Amino acid sequence: MSSPTYEQIYTLLQEQDQLHLLKYYEELEPDRQASLLEQISAIDWNLIHMVGQKPVSETEAEKKIEPLGAMELSEIEQRHDEFEAIGLEALRAQKTGAVLLAGGQGTRLGFDKPKGMFNIGVTRPLYIFECLINNLMDVVKQAGAWVPLYIMTSQKNHEETTSFFREHDYFGYDPEYIHFFRQDMAPSVDYNGKVLLEAKDRISLSPNGNGGWFSSLCRAGYLEDMHKKGIEWLSVFSVDNVLQRINDPVYVGAVLASGCDCGGKVVRKASPEERVGVLCKESGKPAIVEYYEMTDDMRLLRDENGNLLYNFGVTLNYLFRLKRLEEIRTQKLPVHIVEKKIPYINEKGEEVKPETPNGYKFEELVLDMIHMMDSCLPYEIVRENEFAPVKNREGVDSVDTARELLTRNGVQL
Ligand code: UTP
Repeated sequence: MSSPTYEQIYTLLQEQDQLHLLKYYEELEPDRQASLLEQISAIDWNLIHMVGQKPVSETEAEKKIEPLGAMELSEIEQRHDEFEAIGLEALRAQKTGAVLLAGGQGTRLGFDKPKGMFNIGVTRPLYIFECLINNLMDVVKQAGAWVPLYIMTSQKNHEETTSFFREHDYFGYDPEYIHFFRQDMAPSVDYNGKVLLEAKDRISLSPNGNGGWFSSLCRAGYLEDMHKKGIEWLSVFSVDNVLQRINDPVYVGAVLASGCDCGGKVVRKASPEERVGVLCKESGKPAIVEYYEMTDDMRLLRDENGNLLYNFGVTLNYLFRLKRLEEIRTQKLPVHIVEKKIPYINEKGEEVKPETPNGYKFEELVLDMIHMMDSCLPYEIVRENEFAPVKNREGVDSVDTARELLTRNGVQL
């Protein structure tokens, strides 16, 4: 394809009412001018047009939400050996792979490097990436087989992430089993839907959410690699839960034995008000309803034993049947418009790093994939042993709470 000309881009931006993107064009060197025109021609305007539009979704009346029972700790304990045997067999035959979602920007943590590079140690360095690799190594040792690990980065943090792993010898993991791939980016806009400039020659792009992980993985050519390896199940997990068990045999075995298309690790809600999405059924299919979408009924209703009806919160650790992921690959995920703090250059050409949200990013979310599955097993985990997300600097789900939980679980900090 030939490069776009200035005239073509000018006409396009005039139609889109976005001519401000060319404000500094005349000041740029020719190669930067060409680069800016390329970036503008790659913008997906359908996304931008979503700002201010009412989302097209089922109305509340059409949505039929029902509880979805979880496999609870008592049953897991009872069937432990059966599940463990199934899981170990799958792990030894290398039927499972794992995908680490590390393309986010971790803005709440306020750390200017990839979140996995954060040192959670106190008396010694212990990085978030290292905690996750250590957790996966436990499974590798138990099964006596490596789990292929695919790590999703973004354009913004790819180089830093890959060099960090290299410099630390992959924290003892066999590098032959670690593969990095990049997720896609999407433009950011201000509250009026105007695309922001990050520099005079660069539009502001951010990672397009964690929902695009499977299409990005396939685009990077790893689907063939997974077929060759004989992988049938793929877990996907977040970078920030330093205590999570990844592909642990009992969990893998339980999901395989259930016959479901996927499983998700869930925690019993600490209180009806806890800000966590719950796994339930929506119009007969598994789905995750976010805490801010829950009605009072959903928050408070209890069963005959006094347990909350919608009692299990998701932890961003899912196991998907690869075949099913392939079947839904061409289906479009909904796009979420999320308010964020987005650095930009103002009318005077000065760089601004806002302290409060100033615009929107466009994100697809992995939780929407659950609704594309026919069945899902919510699998209960013990919160204190497996759930220590590092989202914030202080307070709830913070560095402090994660350190405390790590210590309680015998990890030396
Ligand atoms: P979060 O929703 O916590 O987003 O991501 P974040 O970008 O890391 O943090 P904040 O909201 O800016 O503070 C949950 C998981 O999804 C990954 C993150 O790296 C984390 O593991 N993620 C998020 C991606 O891989 N790509 C994205 O575009 C967004």
